[in-house]
Amino acid sequence: MPGARIGSLAAMEIREAAVVGLGTMGAGIAEVFARHGLAVVAVEADPGALSRGMATLDASLARSVSRGRLTQAEHADIFGRIRPAARLADTAGADLVIEVVPELLAIKQQVLVQLDQVCRPDAIIATNTSSLSVTAIAAGTTHPGRVVGMHFFNPAPVMRLVEVITTVLTSPAVGEAVTALARRLGKTPVRVTDRAGFVANALLLPYLNHAARLAGTGYASREDIDVAVAEGIGLPMGPLALLDLIGLDTSLAILEVLRDEFGGTRYVPAPLLRRLAEAGRTGRKSGAGFYDYPAKGSAPAPDSGYGNNADPPPPPGTVTLIDPGRSGDRAAELASLIAAAGINLISDPAHPSDLVIVAVGPEGGVLTAAMAAGRASDAVGLHLPRLAEPNLAGTVLAELVSTRLTSARALAAAQALSARLGLRLVRSPDRPGLLVNALLCPHLRDAVAMVADGYATPGDVDTAMTLGCGYPRGPIRLLSDAGPERVLDVLRAMYSGYGDPALAPPPLLAEMAAAGLGAIGPEDAGHDGAVREAAAEPPGQTGAEPPGRT
Ligand code: 3HC
Repeated sequence: MPGARIGSLAAMEIREAAVVGLGTMGAGIAEVFARHGLAVVAVEADPGALSRGMATLDASLARSVSRGRLTQAEHADIFGRIRPAARLADTAGADLVIEVVPELLAIKQQVLVQLDQVCRPDAIIATNTSSLSVTAIAAGTTHPGRVVGMHFFNPAPVMRLVEVITTVLTSPAVGEAVTALARRLGKTPVRVTDRAGFVANALLLPYLNHAARLAGTGYASREDIDVAVAEGIGLPMGPLALLDLIGLDTSLAILEVLRDEFGGTRYVPAPLLRRLAEAGRTGRKSGAGFYDYPAKGSAPAPDSGYGNNADPPPPPGTVTLIDPGRSGDRAAELASLIAAAGINLISDPAHPSDLVIVAVGPEGGVLTAAMAAGRASDAVGLHLPRLAEPNLAGTVLAELVSTRLTSARALAAAQALSARLGLRLVRSPDRPGLLVNALLCPHLRDAVAMVADGYATPGDVDTAMTLGCGYPRGPIRLLSDAGPERVLDVLRAMYSGYGDPALAPPPLLAEMAAAGLGAIGPEDAGHDGAVREAAAEPPGQTGAEPPGRT
């Protein structure tokens, strides 16, 4: 096309797209394009990978047919729009080319240099990098103005977010065209500048990494970590199951980029994550990661279900309830649960009883309260961290906190009591944050820090996490529901316990605790996910107000 301006196509003129790299994400992106009527060239140099990618794509469409979402004819139509190809030169006719090759700068740079030579001058070149600098990826090209980040989320056909990343060199028209294209594809674009991890991965990965670290250090079991998040916060997947979905190798690569850009402990890959990746346990795609996936793509094997003992011992006849002072409502709630179960409840620790329960808060401190009562070996902590609705079975999540001095007898009695009360137990050590808040509060802290940095608005943060990662509520909304002052208390306890600057509450959080969400600007509070770019409700968002208590 002689005389065509570089990267000058508008969104409506994009009729043919090329996807370079047909792994999990590439196949998903090709499916999205084809489902929305674009002709797609799917390029993969390795013939085995090409046929695996096409098979993944076919299977994904077949799943939609089996669920009644597509007809056989539509399946055939969509699949027929995708032309497999082996050479980069086959992208020559495309209006937009997106590279989805492994997350290594040198490989991506090399692919872009070649694409720059074979693509039409007016074509747009996009990268689906998860975290690398789009500017650096574009560096060797003759026309970096037509290079843009177009970041999809896994599974691409399902997740509604596309992060559109423009660099200082990207031509504004290219940013506009890709934003409009994302909308044409039924996605919600969030536009950001070029910073490692952009919005979603810069928030998601340190939280997932933290979960891997807790699993690796024996802080909590793999199953308890995932159940704590899914049932205690209401996120669609636990962090270890999500790492398996994303891929441990990909996650490791993203963390290394984040560590290089930002520094600090949150981004240093957890040793267990690295070891599993090195061992080839890269997640679902390899059949094993944190969990085993007996048949490729299947759900993880059911967990061993701590606390769901089929034959629990009888519950204790008499329970002493200790309110460590800060808990107020928590102690009252536990008292009414225990009393409703017909169990004799006393509050004087000097009286004999079968079990002592400390109505502990998320800051921890069971040991101190139990020792002050002179009943350390009889005592456990119980905490109901409800930010999520009770699960479908109607059970409520509880954190069972044993201390260094808790006896095996007391632990067994507490499990039996919990079974009687219908609580779903996860075990936590007596450390600040316990389990749910130890994962959640630093994650919310990172979100506030990103807003404080001026990188993203609260609305963008919530849109990214609801539409990109399926959160029912974004981090800012979660923070508001949990109460900024409570999150601040947990972070202060964690910071004072561990001394890690990555846990220090940012000043903006203290301002939010003092002034409410108004501290970050009422229009940007992101409460409904109703933000600049969000067009519609994220999947699963009901508008219901779950209980707000950490
Ligand atoms: N490919 C295509 N479609 C899929 C799919 C896949 N791999 N997995 C699930 N689906 C579809 C199903 O067909 C179903 O569609 P339907 O409603 O039309 O029938 C729908 O998704 C829901 O699936 P299921 O009922 O089987 O399962 P769930 O309700 O448990 O949802 C989930 C599965 C959508 C994966 C949900 O658990 C979720 O949202 N998890 C969070 C995923 C996430 O966080 N992704 C982002 C990771 S970060 C990232 O990708 C960035 C990168 O740079 C690392």
